Amino acid sequence: MRILHVAAEIYPLVKTGGLADVVSALPPALAKRGLDARVLLPGLPGILGGMIGLKPVLRIGPVFGAAVVTLLLGRLPDSGLQAYVIDAPFLFQREGNPYVGPDGQDWSDNHRRFALLGWVAAHIASGELDSDWRPDVVHAHDWHAGLVPAYMAQNPALKTATVFTIHNLAFRGIFPLDCHVDLGLPMRKLTPLGIEFHGKISFMKAGLVFSKRITTVSPTYAREICTPEFGCGLEGVLRDRGGDLSGILNGVDYGIWTPDDPVIAKPYNADNLKGKKTCKLALQSELGLSRNAEGPLFAVVSRLTSQKGMDLLLAALPDLLREGAQLAVLGTGDGDLEAGFRYAATANPEKVAVHIGYDEEMSHRFMAGADALLVPSRFEPCGLTQLYALRYGTLPLVRRVGGLADTVVDATPDNLQSDRATGFVFDDASRHAFGTRIREACALYRDEGAWRQVQRRGMVRDFSWDDSAANYEALYRSL
Ligand code: ADP
Ligand code: GLC
Repeated sequence: MRILHVAAEIYPLVKTGGLADVVSALPPALAKRGLDARVLLPGLPGILGGMIGLKPVLRIGPVFGAAVVTLLLGRLPDSGLQAYVIDAPFLFQREGNPYVGPDGQDWSDNHRRFALLGWVAAHIASGELDSDWRPDVVHAHDWHAGLVPAYMAQNPALKTATVFTIHNLAFRGIFPLDCHVDLGLPMRKLTPLGIEFHGKISFMKAGLVFSKRITTVSPTYAREICTPEFGCGLEGVLRDRGGDLSGILNGVDYGIWTPDDPVIAKPYNADNLKGKKTCKLALQSELGLSRNAEGPLFAVVSRLTSQKGMDLLLAALPDLLREGAQLAVLGTGDGDLEAGFRYAATANPEKVAVHIGYDEEMSHRFMAGADALLVPSRFEPCGLTQLYALRYGTLPLVRRVGGLADTVVDATPDNLQSDRATGFVFDDASRHAFGTRIREACALYRDEGAWRQVQRRGMVRDFSWDDSAANYEALYRSL
């Protein structure tokens, strides 16, 4: 079975978040099961520069405002899987963030850039672009690939199945209605039953309406997005498609996320946690934190946004500090939140350290060196950092939403006693609820034996891609 994955980013070439991790790990996990999985990516500088042996497949010609568009085929650097790249310099030859220009605003031609991605996918599916390879299933990820099923539906003879995965419904790919003239889609698709969304166009909605099956990245998020609280205005569409919507939990690439990875101070494992102590001291030194705090070292590796509950963390910081605990933050995001964390670090130099920036290696050192990872998200489709933390014996403290609810077992007295607990979970998105759970985590930290037990339980939990890939394969076969 041939599967074409279509996405805007892929680790390690271009990454803004968990989507890139998933797109680099899922296709190889499918290949391991014997499927022929390929990826289609936009020709962003990081992608063109990082692929191996790129060769032209076909010169496509002027489309979507680009004079020269060439479909290339090469191999991905880590997995060696084959990937198509759309080389369209006019649209993609731009450094930095794939979606946003240097002024912090979305590129004004994003609708054309990502329409091209969808259009090329549809024409690979129809067999017009590569006579040697034609997919049985096209699997599109997030709004960037939302037009894939819309363009495929333009060809009634095309029977190729489509799967659309929502990684984050909050990014709906919304553009002014008059952008439709650039998209080459018929007026009849511009209705509320099509891609029109409150007088605008939504690429996310296109994916939801025109794909055969919809998945999202955790079972709980699949239920949540059918409600007004989490549905971002698309809950009606999702409820209508309820029978075709399911949640498949993301996995972890344990080849990359393992407590003997090369960038941490000292390797360790569930049977021998001594190295973790060295990693903690190294991280404290690296960040200029005091090395003899009595409490745990809490970490954050995250976009600094309100989705991630980072304002809640600033509010609950006094509760954390009162316990003698420390906080280390690695992230970038909203200016106000960055400023808030910078201020907290200046006011508490021994206790709070903040690194504003994106640093892949440092994120590993945070996972290894911290005692606990804070993920107080308002909503979380899956969340990967809590899964990484588990493997590093770093107890996740999370809000009970989406994939966080599906992956962390709360250290209640019952769960502790039955040795099921892997972290801490709280419910209300309030300083009180979050602060209380932080205090309770600090109390457990003082009970070394109990803390160890939870660490070990989390470290041996298996969130590898094997199960998820099997679930995707079953979905493809059902189509
Ligand atoms: P999201 O995709 O919503 O941002 P996820 O938890 O799914 O959340 O994935 C976030 C990914 O980005 C993880 O791989 C995490 O380690 C990484 N990440 C987030 N912020 C940073 C940062 N400042 N530096 C390095 N890696 C980061
Ligand atoms: C999105 C979500 C995150 C998820 C990731 C990968 O960025 O915000 O929860 O883990 O996609 O699916």
